[in-house]
Amino acid sequence: MSISAGDPPVAFARYRDEIEAELRHILGPRESPLYDMLRYHLGWINESGEQISVTRGKSLRPVLCLLACSAETGDYTRALPAAAALELVHNFSLIHDDIQDNDAERHGRPTVWSIWGKSQAINAGTSMRILASLALDSLAHKGVTLDRQFRAHRLLDECSLSLIEGQYLDIDFESRFDITTSDYFTMISKKTACLITCALEMGAMLGTDDESHLEAFHQLGLALGLAFQVQDDILGIWGCSEDTGKPVYSDIRSHKKSLPIVYALERINAWQRNQFTQIYHDGMANTQEGIDTILGILDEIGARKAAEEMVEAYRIQALAVLDKIAIREEPRREMEDVTNFLARRNF
Ligand code: IPE
Ligand code: IPE
Ligand code: MG
Ligand code: MG
Repeated sequence: MSISAGDPPVAFARYRDEIEAELRHILGPRESPLYDMLRYHLGWINESGEQISVTRGKSLRPVLCLLACSAETGDYTRALPAAAALELVHNFSLIHDDIQDNDAERHGRPTVWSIWGKSQAINAGTSMRILASLALDSLAHKGVTLDRQFRAHRLLDECSLSLIEGQYLDIDFESRFDITTSDYFTMISKKTACLITCALEMGAMLGTDDESHLEAFHQLGLALGLAFQVQDDILGIWGCSEDTGKPVYSDIRSHKKSLPIVYALERINAWQRNQFTQIYHDGMANTQEGIDTILGILDEIGARKAAEEMVEAYRIQALAVLDKIAIREEPRREMEDVTNFLARRNF
């Protein structure tokens, strides 16, 4: 399988305006310049505060949430506040992640910290996370019962904690060479798969009390989320920054134990291991020479092919779970399209 571009499935375009309207409703009345950093990050304004139209995020988590709710009830509208909350948690994590990963570019634009500094970017990210909780308050206006509102809050809080635990591991792994594939999957199931799982489970929970469905959506989210992050790791090394809007080789520069690196570390010989550790130890991962040496080792070990095969295996696993849930046919088909798109995306 090679990385090939493909247009996002129609569900992305169908829900885009309503997701954005919900987000604008939450941020709309807040006047402090603090919130302009959030509006900037979301691609609504430039750094001078002027309205602009630029490439934005994919809105994957809100789309999955709305599809899951639609799959249970045929009506996605009651889940719109949850969709907005998920997108806000996601963007909180991106603002903080760019500080933590020292990345100066996202969506092809300077990151919040690279314009306003790290201290203010922490404020931007933290306020984004709190707005996510406030966004869930609108569930009450959609006729969602108190029980379900409470459960939605709980899911969002637990998932946010798990995401931060994942970020903790991701950063801890930077200085370690003993990371196994199993450690890696524990880390990405927290930092990435958890929010994708939460999106599906939350959408379904707003439409059904059937716990077996929630469990199935949980399994679907896990498989999708793992495929998604391994693909992100592939794009971080062999992707094109014009497509991803993110700097290429950033993962190598910051000594990330992304899947291709972990796969290689588990298989390299003593000579290659010595090269690896020297490059990281001498700060060479920041130089083209060091990066080329690491790329050469990844190539010799077949790390790219192995990573692509893992994405494919999780894609198939996700489709198998989806096949077994007793839900409406049209949203199921659309979730299949989203699964296939995610495993083959180049951005
Ligand atoms: C990026 O997620 C962070 C990861 C979990 C890999 P997305 O690729 O969904 O981010 P945007 O919102 O579409 O930019
Ligand atoms: C993904 O982090 C998970 C979170 C942001 C919580 P990464 O660092 O792998 O994602 P990108 O590549 O910067 O989007
Ligand atoms: Mg990052
Ligand atoms: Mg990161």
